[in-house]
Amino acid sequence: MIPFYDLKSMHSKYRKELDLAISKTIDRSNFISSSHDFEGDFASYTGADFCVGTNSGTSAIHLALLTLGLKSGDEVITVSHTYRGTVAPILYCGAIPVYVDIDPKTFVMDWTKIEEKINSKTKVIMPVHLYGNVAPMKEIIKIAKKHNLKVVEDCSQAHGSRLNGIHVGNFGDIGTFSFYPSKGLGAFGDAGCIITNNKKIEKKLRSLSSWGDYEIGYNYRLSVLQAEVLKIKLKYFDEVLHQKRTIANYYNMYFDNVSTASGVEHSYHIYPILRNNRKKLINNLRNIIELRTHYDTPVHKLNAYKTDDHLPVTEKISSTEVSIPLYSSVDFKKVKDILE
Ligand SMILES: Cc1ncc(COP(=O)(O)O)c(C=O)c1O
Repeated sequence: MIPFYDLKSMHSKYRKELDLAISKTIDRSNFISSSHDFEGDFASYTGADFCVGTNSGTSAIHLALLTLGLKSGDEVITVSHTYRGTVAPILYCGAIPVYVDIDPKTFVMDWTKIEEKINSKTKVIMPVHLYGNVAPMKEIIKIAKKHNLKVVEDCSQAHGSRLNGIHVGNFGDIGTFSFYPSKGLGAFGDAGCIITNNKKIEKKLRSLSSWGDYEIGYNYRLSVLQAEVLKIKLKYFDEVLHQKRTIANYYNMYFDNVSTASGVEHSYHIYPILRNNRKKLINNLRNIIELRTHYDTPVHKLNAYKTDDHLPVTEKISSTEVSIPLYSSVDFKKVKDILE
């Protein structure tokens, strides 16, 4: 049986370093801090001026929207073909998610459909770099500037993804990341962070994330133990990414559902294929390869988030998408042979 993911084998390579870092943290017993070395390391890795750690990717988005002043009744343009963690923080602010459809080839926001959704209530555009692909940031930023809107990039699935050499999260006002354990760069529990190139935004984010003195803040800090683990995993991340890209290049020879725009370096958090007989395929192979779906129900069709939107491409992709295993230790040739 080929599992969808194998974190244990991934960690075995630097297990001693991880054990030592955890042990040293127990020795120091400084489990809570409002800043950490890892933030500097991740800022350097992404080329951003500032990084603020958070306790999840969801709280990173919530803080980003609060910092940009999102209020009840405001509208945020985003996508429905994503994890609900993109959308819930918009609702936490009392704001309204307004969905645009996705591009049928890249599965990220279709920028040609954005302007028809803009009105006087629109405050933020939030594209999602889904699966590790990159949303069309040049076009999105141009539209945002024209209409005086803020941009938050949901980079939860896109550690290591770049456009024309620039790491995602640097195009908009704020980039948010999740370090959920199975993400490209994953912690040993929930964790996340925010990057920005604006000092004022960084100050406000940091204050709100740790019980700010002049406003009602939040307890959204990144824990020291998670930061220590992430610091080590970040050192090996490019090596992991290189292995994943090698496997993806192999898959790309046989499966043709992953497209990238020019200048995009995909990080292949998820490798999607599209199949009309999805249920049958997943069931038939359930004792041989673990296949998953990301996501079988778009957010606007989930009970708690239901809207009347009709998003034909989103609905088509979410009813046919199948994610296949892609990680350093996977027997990718066997995966391809079986799927063929
Ligand atoms: C696109 C996207 N946005 C937001 C989130 C929320 O991140 P977290 O689970 O760390 O809160 C996730 C994680 O699943 C995600 O994939």
